[in-house]
Amino acid sequence: MAYTRMTAADAAALIKNGDTLGMSGFTPAGSAKAVTRELAAIATAEHEAGREFKVNIFTGASTGESTDGVLTEAHAIKYRAPYTTNPSFRKSVNKGEISYNDIHLSQMAQELRYGFYGDIDWAILEVCDIEEGADTCKAYLTSAGGISPTVARMAKHVILELNTFHSKDAKFMHDVYEPLDPPMRQPIPIINVGDRIGKPYVEIDAKKIVGVVECNLPDEARAFKDSDPITDQIGHNVAEFLVNDMKRGIIPSTFLPLQSGVGSTANAILGALGKHKEVPDFNVYTEVMQDSVVEMMLEGRVKDASSCSLTVSNECLKQVYDNMNYLKDHITLRPSEISNSPEVIRRLGVIAINTAIEVDIYGNANSTHISGTKMMNGIGGSGDFERNAYISIFTCPSTAKGGLISSIVPMVSHQDHSEHDVNVIVTEQGVADLRGKSPIERAHLIIENCAHPDYRPILRAYLEHAQMGQTRHNLGKAFAMHIALAEKGDMHLTEM
Ligand code: COA
Repeated sequence: MAYTRMTAADAAALIKNGDTLGMSGFTPAGSAKAVTRELAAIATAEHEAGREFKVNIFTGASTGESTDGVLTEAHAIKYRAPYTTNPSFRKSVNKGEISYNDIHLSQMAQELRYGFYGDIDWAILEVCDIEEGADTCKAYLTSAGGISPTVARMAKHVILELNTFHSKDAKFMHDVYEPLDPPMRQPIPIINVGDRIGKPYVEIDAKKIVGVVECNLPDEARAFKDSDPITDQIGHNVAEFLVNDMKRGIIPSTFLPLQSGVGSTANAILGALGKHKEVPDFNVYTEVMQDSVVEMMLEGRVKDASSCSLTVSNECLKQVYDNMNYLKDHITLRPSEISNSPEVIRRLGVIAINTAIEVDIYGNANSTHISGTKMMNGIGGSGDFERNAYISIFTCPSTAKGGLISSIVPMVSHQDHSEHDVNVIVTEQGVADLRGKSPIERAHLIIENCAHPDYRPILRAYLEHAQMGQTRHNLGKAFAMHIALAEKGDMHLTEM
């Protein structure tokens, strides 16, 4: 049986003001992109006619320009969860125009199922192939797992974007598994990075499929800044630290799976680990596979990789499809609640390496907010991985904005990860190994090993004049560096 074919415009016209959309994709990878462009045009026309038109969006993580970008510019998003990196969306959120719920990515699908966020009207999924059964549709996803199985099951109606930009071979990478909810939840039986526990497709009730939109649209992953001497040095410091832990027997000689976060720093760190001669070949258990991991897989440096998405440049994606004969046995793409499952991360002993915006002298980390108020992207999977890792590492350059900002501060202006969840801080200056240390020991290590030399005197002075206690602070001055930044555009202070 063939399902109805329709244009993206006809599909978009079915969506009403106030509807809730569940989208495929995780980062721009695998995100549906045809219908939302038309929806943005409809929203603009409605607004010009003086009528309200906004929708609510749930995704795995970011979408690309064709969803978060155009819908934000059309003022068509009322509410959205979770993580996104889109610059227009960021501006609107920080102007208070969009209601943004930034939650741990592992929790998105299950919280939808638990009923925390109400009904889903439409699931819009990007697929590379469909088996059009009379009762059940088998939908094969493209470059990400995301929350597709859950939204496809929960939504009242489903639209499939059959995107021929993707090779049909994308189906060989997917392992679709949706856990039962408590009290019926079972252990997730992943023991090795490459274990497959589900099906290669999302099963959808055929009655809910309203139509199939055929399209040919490239994926919209961002290009990362090239690595630079600072990110290279951070990568080198991380690699040296891990090699040393391996030599001490803390990390087994077979090594442990790695997770490295999103962004330019994370990409550079994985590259540096790959180049380090003493780091053995390794596996990756992560949520986002960037270009550097694919390169290392093709070189044999990374053996198996489990991820939620292939967030790679389109050239890199083509390379993946061209090498599918080999890669299908080594890349597994999973729904976000499985790629980021605390249970599995802890069982496998994943070493987590994520980037912070700022960390404080006690090891609390801020991944999301600039100066305590402005949302950058969101927490993403950093909490899922760091809280449950074998070793949880945060990296960041010691300064930002040409040295005007210190990434090491007396107290973080917003806290995403507490001192209890952070084992190691790494900047280009060095490594602070916080394991087993008291707060004051941690403070000395972070200031002396990680802070930029320009900021060490002021951080030492803060500590010297802080009020005695288990965790020494001077609440009157804890944000003096942030206040100086707000007032004069520079965190340098002559006295504390
Ligand atoms: N104060 C103000 N701005 C700061 C800052 C600080 N303390 N630290 C960094 N920035 C700015 C940088 O200057 C840069 O600005 P620009 O875009 O205008 O150049 C921007 O933040 C991004 O910094 P960059 O050094 O390019 O970092 P990145 O690409 O490695 O991204 C995060 C860093 C923290 C934004 C990114 O890793 C993130 O969103 N993390 C949260 C989610 C996460 O960890 N997911 C991981 C699971 S996969």
